[in-house]
This record gives sequence, C-alpha cells and structure tokens, in this order.
Amino acid sequence: MAQRFAADKKAPMDIRQHWQTVYEGRDVSTVSWFQPHLTSSLTEIAWAVAAQGLKPEGARILDVGGGASTLVDDLLELGYRGITVLDVAQSALAVSQRRLGDRANSVQWICDDLLFCDRLPEKVHLWHDRAVFHFLCDPEMRARYVDLVRKTLAVGSHLIVFSFGPDGPQRCSGLPAMRYSREALASVFDEGFVMVRDQLETHRTPAGVDQQFLLAHFLRTE
Ligand SMILES: C[S@@+](CC[C@H](N)C(=O)[O-])C[C@H]1O[C@@H](n2cnc3c(N)ncnc32)[C@H](O)[C@@H]1O
Repeated sequence: MAQRFAADKKAPMDIRQHWQTVYEGRDVSTVSWFQPHLTSSLTEIAWAVAAQGLKPEGARILDVGGGASTLVDDLLELGYRGITVLDVAQSALAVSQRRLGDRANSVQWICDDLLFCDRLPEKVHLWHDRAVFHFLCDPEMRARYVDLVRKTLAVGSHLIVFSFGPDGPQRCSGLPAMRYSREALASVFDEGFVMVRDQLETHRTPAGVDQQFLLAHFLRTE
C-alpha cells in the first residue's frame, strides 16, 4: 500500500520503490541526511527514558523511517533492548542488518509503509522520527500519522520528531518536503501532546551543505 500522490496530487508515486532505489547500490554515508552518529537523538532518548523512570533495557523504542542510520547500533551499545526499526525500504534495513551482524537479532525490524502498517508495536515508550514526517505534504497523510502516534503512544510516553526548520530545504531526496517552525509543529500535535523541548539545529550534509532542522520533543499528556 505504498502508492500515494505527490504534493501536487497529479503524479502518483510509489514511495516504496522510490526509497528502495535510493539505498540500493549506494554508499549510505553519501546521502544528504547521513550523520555518523545521531547524537541529538541519543541525548533526547536518554532524557525521555529517564523521565519515564525506565532503564535503557526496559524502554520500548520505535524508530520510524529509521533507514540505515546508526541510531540502532548506538542504542544497542548503550544497553537498549526493546528497539523496533521500521522503514519502507528493505534495502535500507538490509544495510543496518549487515552492519550489525548477529546483533541485528536483538532488534525488531518492520519493512512497511508506516502510514499503512498494521503491525506497529504496542505500549511504546518512545516514538523517534528523524526526517520522515516532513515528507508528508498531504494533510490527510499528516492526520493519519498523528492518529498512528496517538494510538501507539500511551499517556506519559514521548515523541521525538526531527523535521526541516523554517529555513530548511524544500526538497530532499528528490521529494517535496515541509518546513516547520516550533509553533507549526506544535499545532500538528496539539491534542494530547505538550512540546517539552525544541531546538533548531544545523545539519551539514556529506556534500557540505547546511540544512536547518527543528528538533521537537513532545510528551503525551492525555
Ligand atoms: C531522510 S531518510 C532518514 C533516515 C533516518 N531516519 C536517518 O536519520 O538517517 C527518510 C527515511 O524514511 C523512510 N520512509 C519514508 N517514507 C516512509 C514511510 N511512509 N514509511 C516508512 N518509512 C518511510 C525512507 O525509506 C528513509 O529511510
């Protein structure tokens, strides 16, 4: 169910095929969103887990659109065990699985379109999204995303979203992307969430281009 429409609603596009191709036969350290270690994510996750009175091994974490990022490697190294990585591109997950070797067996992998996935884990303590939500240019798809977050996160759990900031790029990986101020993102997650932290960050791409990101950290309150 990966067929969707581009922002102009004219051209149907296959999200799965798009992302599958992006990661195929390519060195992942050359993609624009590559970071050797997702340090801001790791800091936010540690904070969210401690805020819930949990130890790393007891925290259930869902990384949506996790791609081939090393977040999972670093979380495993830090003692986290309840990690699920979801991505629409098997080629991306395969990169991480190869890199991790036997350690990949300690992770739950889901290859699916997040918005149409009926296998999301339950009772998740933390939903992490770096550079996925901002691709949702269609209000219906955004509403679907918010609905899924709401269903997956219980009251007291945390949501961490990295999107492009107000001065960020308008396209990424050949796709249109949204840019968000803290107010705009807070208004997306306005019912039942409180933004507890936000920060603008500059990501330097492997090609040396600076991109502005907004880090937004929410608590599910009702
Ligand atoms: C810009 S990359 C970011 C990857 C990773 N979060 C990181 O920081 O390195 C966006 C990722 O989201 C995945 N993705 C895009 N749309 C998706 C969807 N609807 N469902 C699941 N994954 C999706 C892509 O395959 C890709 O790996």
